[in-house]
Formats: sequence, structure tokens, C-alpha cells
Amino acid sequence: MSLYAIGDLHLSLGSDKPMDVFGGGWSNYIEKIKAGFSHLESEDVCVLCGDTSWGMSLEESLEDFCFLNQLPGRKIILKGNHDYWWGTATKLRSFFEQNGIDNIDILHNNSFVYEGTAICGTRGWLIDSESDAEQNSKIMAREVSRLRMSLESADDALDKFCFFHYPPRFKNMVCQDIIDVMNEHCVKNCWYGHIHGSGHRFAVQGEAEGIFYEMVSADFAGFAPKKII
Ligand SMILES: [Fe+2]
Ligand SMILES: [Fe+2]
Repeated sequence: MSLYAIGDLHLSLGSDKPMDVFGGGWSNYIEKIKAGFSHLESEDVCVLCGDTSWGMSLEESLEDFCFLNQLPGRKIILKGNHDYWWGTATKLRSFFEQNGIDNIDILHNNSFVYEGTAICGTRGWLIDSESDAEQNSKIMAREVSRLRMSLESADDALDKFCFFHYPPRFKNMVCQDIIDVMNEHCVKNCWYGHIHGSGHRFAVQGEAEGIFYEMVSADFAGFAPKKII
């Protein structure tokens, strides 16, 4: 039994969003994802770090969820900036139940436990220059509160891992508010996605001020879930 993570599968089986326009790595990516997951066993767990489906609604994403459901392992998904189909956790869970999607769980203000280690996280945020300062701080405060809720729900766990869509560190940017919450809860390891193509070279990976960072965007990870433990 193992724990894996991968982000940004960008599935579009029920919508018209070809990914091969983004370059070599994305050609035939559905087959690559299938091959990447073929190493997992049914009892393994894989955290999907956002940007899972291009569907604009749950109905448009259904084919993508069915595809994921057939892949081995239990999937825990969190929200990415392109997951427009995302709704309340209750709505998502009931949609999955109605459609026989039985191995996808939602990470949203909650946590899961994998062999004593808590799986926590939230979408996160990357301060951008296109949003004004007030908007940036409002979004950051919301994400900080979601992360706090997720970590507090796992207070009894021996160890806590954090998963994000947006990187807490990227280039010379540091999301100190998010990092402060990880430090408050003694989090030492986190994984994230969102960064693609030419952005990969700016990713922060490895240890930085006591926390280990690893990027698992699908096109960076060779479309194969990264084994964590
Ligand atoms: Fe993405
Ligand atoms: Fe993204």
C-alpha cells in the first residue's frame, strides 16, 4: 500500500479542450496517464492536486470522473483554478454517488488519514500582479482559513502532509501566510501542481526553511503519479 500524488491531469474526455496544442509532452496524454497509473494497486491512495477536468459543469466532467474511477487506487482530489465544475463538497459527493463514482474523495476543509499520516490541503494562491492588493489578500485569507480548517481536522495525526494546487513558493515569490500555517502545524512536506511547460524551471523543489517542496504537475512528472510513501 502506497501514497502517491499528481496534479493537473487536465482531462477533457467530455469537453473539447485538446491538450496536444501545448506541446510534445501532452500528445497522447490519456494513454500516458493510464500507463502511469497502471503501477498502482487498488488499495493505494493518490492525491490529485487540482486542474483535474476541463469540464465546465459536473455533467461535462462525468466522462473524466468515470475515466479516473476506472484507474487503480483511491483518488483524493482538491480544487485547481481550472476546475470550473467544482461545487460544494456535498454536491460533489452526491453527484459521484449518483453516478457510481466510488473511489474519488473530496479534500476541501477536511482531511484524510493514510496509515497515521494526515492528508491535508487546499487550492492555495499565488499572488499575481493582475489582481489588486485587496483582491489578492482576500483570496489568500480564504485559502489560509481553508488550510487551517483542514489541518485542525487532523489534530490527532502523527504527521501531516499538505497538498496544494498553487505552489507556496515559486520563483522569488513566497506565500508566507500559507507557510506560516504549515509551520504552526509542524508540516514538513508539501506537494503542488499548476506549473507547466517553461514554468517548470522556476519551481522550488527540495527543502526551504524547514519544509520540503515537490512539484507533481502531470507534464513535469511524466504523467505518472509520484510515489510519496
Ligand atoms: Fe494546470
Ligand atoms: Fe492551474
